[in-house]
Amino acid sequence: MNRADIIVGLQWGDEGKGKIVDNLAQKYDYVCRFAGGHNAGHTIVTDGKKYALHLIPSGVLNKDAINIVGNGVVLSPKDFIKELEQFDDIEGRIFISDKAHLILPYHAEIDQARERLKGDKAIGTTGKGIGPAYGDKITRVGHRVGELLNPQKLTKDIMSYFNINKPIFDAMGVQTPNESELLEELKGYNKELAKYIVDTTLMVWDALDSEKRVLLEGAQGTMLDIDHGTYPYVTSSTTISAGACSGLGIAPQQIGDVVGIAKAYCTRVGNGPFPSEDLGEDGNYLREKGGEYGTTTGRPRRCGWFDAVAMKHAVKLNGVSNIALMKLDVLDGMETIKVCVAYEIDGKEIDYVPYSLEGAKPIYKEFKGWKESKGVKEFNKLPQEAQDYILELEKLCGSKIGIISTSPDREDTIIRD
Ligand code: GDP
Ligand code: IMO
Ligand code: MG
Repeated sequence: MNRADIIVGLQWGDEGKGKIVDNLAQKYDYVCRFAGGHNAGHTIVTDGKKYALHLIPSGVLNKDAINIVGNGVVLSPKDFIKELEQFDDIEGRIFISDKAHLILPYHAEIDQARERLKGDKAIGTTGKGIGPAYGDKITRVGHRVGELLNPQKLTKDIMSYFNINKPIFDAMGVQTPNESELLEELKGYNKELAKYIVDTTLMVWDALDSEKRVLLEGAQGTMLDIDHGTYPYVTSSTTISAGACSGLGIAPQQIGDVVGIAKAYCTRVGNGPFPSEDLGEDGNYLREKGGEYGTTTGRPRRCGWFDAVAMKHAVKLNGVSNIALMKLDVLDGMETIKVCVAYEIDGKEIDYVPYSLEGAKPIYKEFKGWKESKGVKEFNKLPQEAQDYILELEKLCGSKIGIISTSPDREDTIIRD
């Protein structure tokens, strides 16, 4: 029996997971998403062509890989159908768990209404309905993808949910469709998606039992995890490696390597604490040079320095066996590079992630910059200062950095062992 390997984000998302999953997918038979929804935006660049994936696993460009959307994902049929249109050869290569929960348009409306009502306390969600859909799942009033196979019954069930919640929806200004509109919508989803809906738990078990190579693709990042992130400024799912077990139905003993993805600096989109954020010139430089604008919402990402304290925390939480350090080239040309090595909170210096990062001030160590790493494919061809930076990050984070990325392109990747 084989073990499944995991790719997981170690910061606040957008670390470059898509590029590494695509790169590694060439060596895997199955690529499976285990959490999140179309809040994710994974960009892949290959042969000069750019793909933006939200729900489809980033293994899709490897024509031999089977792609699975696991039960831990929340799936918007409308957005999934739109995403499928990019590919004309996808049938038989993608499957959706019948146990994944549905995101329907009213979830997005609720999400946006809640954000509006929160005013300056807003989380800065993607507005895609992620929180309300996971909320419905946990409060046991959600609907699963398998229910799309009987649109008539699903329509009745959703209409009764609308009736129960009518006073709340009215107060929030949330619009809901009438029965015939809803039936038409769900019949449309059924027509497009029925062929992809299966019991993916059995599929993954069969794959592992028959020695297939299985890669599990995380979305978002560790610091956005519902339990371990900067709550409440987080997403609504388990983004860490443990989520891969429940999000696909795989036992912990069947997990192999955990590759953690991290940028050589740090970004965050949305609100909430970000101790190593740089609000000055360096932050702007990173945003422009790194193209730090959201794949899903187009929002400018907040930019700052590599946070080794949060990274050490993420390495432990995920059981990281190897880090892939991304976007090293974005630091090219900077005179000085900073790394956050401790926080000061209420006058005290600490080197771990506490209950809250609100008000945490960064304590930096400075490194000498380098001229050019862009496109380099071998570790010993990197400028000496870049090599020193990477070796020091390994010590600070307590993990090996086995993969280094020096451009968006699939090929511009250093594999150290
Ligand atoms: P994900 O959500 O973790 O998959 O990351 P995103 O796709 O949202 O954001 C990462 C962005 O960085 C994408 O636009 C990638 O094409 C780009 N990217 C990935 N690796 C590198 C790299 O090494 N250098 C540069 N300059 N860009 C990269
Ligand atoms: P990928 O997979 C970066 C952030 C949102 C917001 C918070 C909650 O591309 O790394 P949500 O819509 O999930 O309720 O928003 O989480 N967020 C992400 N930030 N990358 C992502 O995904 C994200 N998915 C959600 O910006 O701060
Ligand atoms: Mg992204």
